[in-house]
Amino acid sequence: MAASASIWKTIYLGSFVHSQTLTELEICRQGAIGVDENGVIDFVEKNISNISELKSKDSSWQDAKTVKIPGNGFFFPGFIDTHTHAPQHPNTGLFGKTTLLDWLQTYTFPMESSFKDLDRADRIYQNFVARTLSHGTTTCAYYATIHVPATNLLANICLKRGQRALVGRVCMNSDLSPEYYRDESVESSVRDSKTSIDYIRSIDPAGDIVKPIITPRFAPSCTAECLTAIGQLAAQEDTFIQTHISENKNEVALVQELFPTSKSYTDVYDTHSLLTPKTILAHAVHLSPEERRTILERGSKISHCPASNTAITSGCSPIRTLINEGHTIGLGTDISGGFHPSILDNVRQAIWVSRHLSIQIQSDAAKLSTEEALYLATRGGAAVVGLEDKVGGFEVGKEFDAQMIVLGEVGDEGGIEAGPVDVFGWENGQEMVEKWVYAGDDRNTVAVWVRGRLVHATRKFKGAE
Ligand code: GUN
Ligand code: FE
Repeated sequence: MAASASIWKTIYLGSFVHSQTLTELEICRQGAIGVDENGVIDFVEKNISNISELKSKDSSWQDAKTVKIPGNGFFFPGFIDTHTHAPQHPNTGLFGKTTLLDWLQTYTFPMESSFKDLDRADRIYQNFVARTLSHGTTTCAYYATIHVPATNLLANICLKRGQRALVGRVCMNSDLSPEYYRDESVESSVRDSKTSIDYIRSIDPAGDIVKPIITPRFAPSCTAECLTAIGQLAAQEDTFIQTHISENKNEVALVQELFPTSKSYTDVYDTHSLLTPKTILAHAVHLSPEERRTILERGSKISHCPASNTAITSGCSPIRTLINEGHTIGLGTDISGGFHPSILDNVRQAIWVSRHLSIQIQSDAAKLSTEEALYLATRGGAAVVGLEDKVGGFEVGKEFDAQMIVLGEVGDEGGIEAGPVDVFGWENGQEMVEKWVYAGDDRNTVAVWVRGRLVHATRKFKGAE
């Protein structure tokens, strides 16, 4: 089915949960969300007990299908992964005791260079997009590799499977990268990026599902000349930009050495016109107050990657400070610096990191609440990728990007078979959400929709009636 094909009008019936503000979830136990033929939310009812009453109120919904939650559960907005590397998927969990700069040389560059083989790229990308969808990720900002054919293939796969995606060909021309895996020249870096941008725009001209994103890997991977040319290309093409910033202390020192006249890591990007309101900066662990001010002034966004920051021991991003200063922040899995393709897992990791910081500074102020972490995973992420008006919550006019979460047993299945969270029927909505956040996984993600199109379902999904 083409991504733009119209779908059946459908009423999603049962509990739904979404962020109302950074600190508050709305939990509606008897909801109904009406989604039209274009996947747009037409109505949201918050206290509905009878579907026929609802249908009779408006005759145009008479023939609508109904999707009900089997057992205990709720609809939740699809997750937004604001930073991940699809070609690093086979390395997930492999990092040993490395830190960023030796991790790149040991694990990452050898794996990414193998994507010149398109069959191999197809196998891994098909698997990864299916995997992220199965974890409820409905929008994903992907780094691909330097290879144009494989990058374009990733965009095709996202479009076909219906996952919203920003897909970026990685620019890297400096000799930080081995000779076997780098752009040949500034000219080839810009030309190849433009070729991929044009291709991605040709397969989805409106950018409803897939969009290109200009992707200078990080400052040490690009010469100053290349950063300048890429900044110009981003301005000409009016694209999103993604890169890494201030992830690890040795990396920060390396940037200072490579760009000695720059005031800071942030200044390197700023002076090459790479800090725009459409820029996604991953990590932001060791920024100075001045750098954070510059990022805020430019309107650039931040992707917090807590699992990755712990795995390759980059540091603990001061997320409370970033929130208090008013930054726009989403979560990123950062496969395979991060070890888990699930944003739900990164919700937990974000909370754990904030709690370790809170232990260190002996203050509760650093602690992220469950509500805050879920906000970053949905509405925060939506704002990072420029989709805050389209997705992230259930309001009339938004597109229906959602996951059906089911906890406990379904029908006559045993508890273990039913997934990792046991419920007993007396839990209130808040308790259901907390059980899911702290003990749930993809077994609880029974079905996933993007723009009202079913993009993933498990055996437990009974379909629409
Ligand atoms: N910095 C430059 N490249 C990478 C990468 O692939 N992953 C992470 N985590 N940091 C980077
Ligand atoms: Fe990364």
